[in-house]
Amino acid sequence: MFKKVAGTKDILPLEIPQWQETENISRSIFSVYNYREIRPPVMEEAALFNRSLGESAEIVQKQMFLIKNKDETYALRPEATASIVRAYIENSLDKASALQKLYYIGPMFRLERPQKGRLRQFHHIGCEVIGSGDAGVDVEVISLADTILKACAIEGYQIKINSLGCLDDKKGLARILRESIKGQLNDFCQECRQRFDRNVLRVLDCKNESCRKIIAKLNISDRHLCPDCKEHFSLVKQGLDDLKVSYEVLPYLVRGLDYYTRTVFEITHRELGAQDALAAGGRYDKLVSELGGPDVGAIGFAFGVERLLLISGPKNNPDKNKDLVYVIALGQEAKREAGKILAQLRRENIASDTDYAGKSLKGAMRQANDSQAKCVLIIGEEELKKGTITLKDMISGQQKEIRQDELIRALKC
Ligand code: HAM
Repeated sequence: MFKKVAGTKDILPLEIPQWQETENISRSIFSVYNYREIRPPVMEEAALFNRSLGESAEIVQKQMFLIKNKDETYALRPEATASIVRAYIENSLDKASALQKLYYIGPMFRLERPQKGRLRQFHHIGCEVIGSGDAGVDVEVISLADTILKACAIEGYQIKINSLGCLDDKKGLARILRESIKGQLNDFCQECRQRFDRNVLRVLDCKNESCRKIIAKLNISDRHLCPDCKEHFSLVKQGLDDLKVSYEVLPYLVRGLDYYTRTVFEITHRELGAQDALAAGGRYDKLVSELGGPDVGAIGFAFGVERLLLISGPKNNPDKNKDLVYVIALGQEAKREAGKILAQLRRENIASDTDYAGKSLKGAMRQANDSQAKCVLIIGEEELKKGTITLKDMISGQQKEIRQDELIRALKC
């Protein structure tokens, strides 16, 4: 028997209503904020991610699902920001409107060690605003994430923000950090010792307890920020205060992808355990021009949908199909008639189904009950002769015989 690939998940029919509810809430909020949906392919040239996320990023180093085809290497997208910037440039979306506000919902793929809240195929609900460096957009994007969480009735999350500054500031931060830790390098974990050369900023968000202790004593502040970036970050914080969005400034928040500049943020939830990030995002003001597009600012974020659902938990009996009409045919002739009735119901947009297994009346009634049908239509020899149908209300238990040509009216009232 075949089993699903490790780190993937079957989203079963019972879970679908919850997924759809989360997606629908997000779609309607994106729409209120004037974002439009974009659906890039799940496969891109691997080089797009190497270039965008950075050769030293963990995702690029170890986590990409690669597909080799002749001389080309494709990757199943580990995230969508790079794809959307590629699509923005390739389709000249900047010519259509200077500010593109886009959202997406779909699967991402990372070759990670599976654990609770960490999958190899997972889903993002995310957005990207391309075409502005304005701090007001940062405020909009962070408050949009907050609005979605509130609309999903999720409580107890923390919004953590930081500013990495512009590219020069990031280099400055890396310099300050190297200076401060080089004397204690032997006390860091092996991975951090490698990060010291490759991408020292990643040392700041190492989860290793002993590394965390040293980092906590470093007194990282905003001294790496130039006056413009300091001003930008102040405006972001001021805007969030104005909207009463609660947040915490975390100087250690750096994020694992190279493209970030200035504002970065993460939304965490304690109940998630080790993989506590519900969402993450930030500004990437140099990525669009780096990939050959115009020199414009951009910012976005993505929710991990599986993690959102872990927090919001299963709803009560979400699969109840309250409006289902169940047709039971007794005998071959009646079965033909039932086929025509089903087609008629469906043309009228009435959710309907039947038992194809030739069950007895008792068995078919049980099936109707299991399907949570609101009423059952029974056609047997008697009904066929008279041109009638027996209609049973599954809630009141009442039963009546009606003429076939009255059926739709009877069901609709
Ligand atoms: P990310 O932090 O890599 O950022 O992923 C965003 C969210 O996806 C995480 O906070 C987490 O909830 C979820 N996630 C990540 N990896 C997994 C996994 N293996 N299993 C389950 N959930 C996971 C990005 O991908 C950026 N593209 C976000 C962004 C958009 N930045 C700017 N625009």
